[in-house]
Amino acid sequence: MFKSVKSKVIFAVLSLSILGLISISYYLSSTLSNLSNTTSKQSLSMLSESIYQTMTTSMMLGDPQVVESTLHTAKSIDGIDSLTIAKSKAVLEVYAPTENFTTNPILLDVLQNKKTMTIEKDVNGHHTIRMIRPMVAEKRCLSCHYNAEVGYTLGAMDLVLSLDKNDATISKTNMTLILSLLVSALLFAIIVGMFFVKEIFTPLDMLKEKIADLVRGDKDLTKRLAHKKGNEFGDAAEEVNHFIATIQETINIVKDLGKENSNIATEIDISVSTIVQSINDVSDKMHQNANNVEALSTANRTSVVSIESDLIRLVEVASRLQNTIDEFKS
Ligand code: HEC
Repeated sequence: MFKSVKSKVIFAVLSLSILGLISISYYLSSTLSNLSNTTSKQSLSMLSESIYQTMTTSMMLGDPQVVESTLHTAKSIDGIDSLTIAKSKAVLEVYAPTENFTTNPILLDVLQNKKTMTIEKDVNGHHTIRMIRPMVAEKRCLSCHYNAEVGYTLGAMDLVLSLDKNDATISKTNMTLILSLLVSALLFAIIVGMFFVKEIFTPLDMLKEKIADLVRGDKDLTKRLAHKKGNEFGDAAEEVNHFIATIQETINIVKDLGKENSNIATEIDISVSTIVQSINDVSDKMHQNANNVEALSTANRTSVVSIESDLIRLVEVASRLQNTIDEFKS
């Protein structure tokens, strides 16, 4: 799939950037929401404490109207979803005999066990954090709440804060964060891409083209690859140049050998033709000799014939002489 170095590098850079982008944004946004959660819990705790103080202070006046209006004012604080106080049986007995005691299990739990509870909820896109704290009777409370004793839970203050605004801010910040990360990743990719193109792809292409030129082009072995020293491409070009030089040397040696061979061949040729010439001469001479011999033999033959005829004549003369001698004798 990724055969070329280019595609491998692009794939690696892209996947690393995307992976880095995802993990950085995940890390940043989770840190952000953790921070925001901690902060909102802290502010909830502080707000609850402050409302508690205000409520008890207002109560010191002993006027139910003031207590009521304090509660009302506290409710209108921005970000407060709801603020209610569940009255204990002792409070109900004295100040609101007509009201019913709470049946809410969470409130009952707080009233009974005097423990502060924090509940975070996210229902239908409405994110809230709720803190229920017990309002425990101190000595100073007993002047009005005479039917209770120190440590008795007079009520449970139920404060619900909306975190929707907070969430909106977080998601807005997250968006800004992701956008800026995207822009940085894009810039990073461009810079890395430019770096790779300048430092690796272009030199690699040039090296490839030059080698191809050497191999397929004019095959001029006196040519060398131009290169910058000090990096791997320069070293590779240097090695290719060494290789070409070795080939050039070998070819020169072969050429010299060829020249020598052709010289030897010419010499052999000359010698052969000299030998052939000599053989021709010898053969000519032989031929001539043969002719001479023939002529000689013809001459011999004629002389033999003439000697023969001379001899015949001699024999004739001799017989005639014999005859003559015989005639003489007779
Ligand atoms: C000066 C008198 C007075 C003192 C002191 C006082 N309270 Fe109350 N408290 C009242 C009155 C009056 C109400 C009834 C208010 C109402 O009906 O809304 C009340 C109501 C309450 C309620 C029910 C909440 C509500 O909205 O009715 C709680 C809980 C409570 N007091 C706790 C305390 C605690 C805790 C202290 C001590 C730190 C304290 N009070 C001191 C007068 C007092």
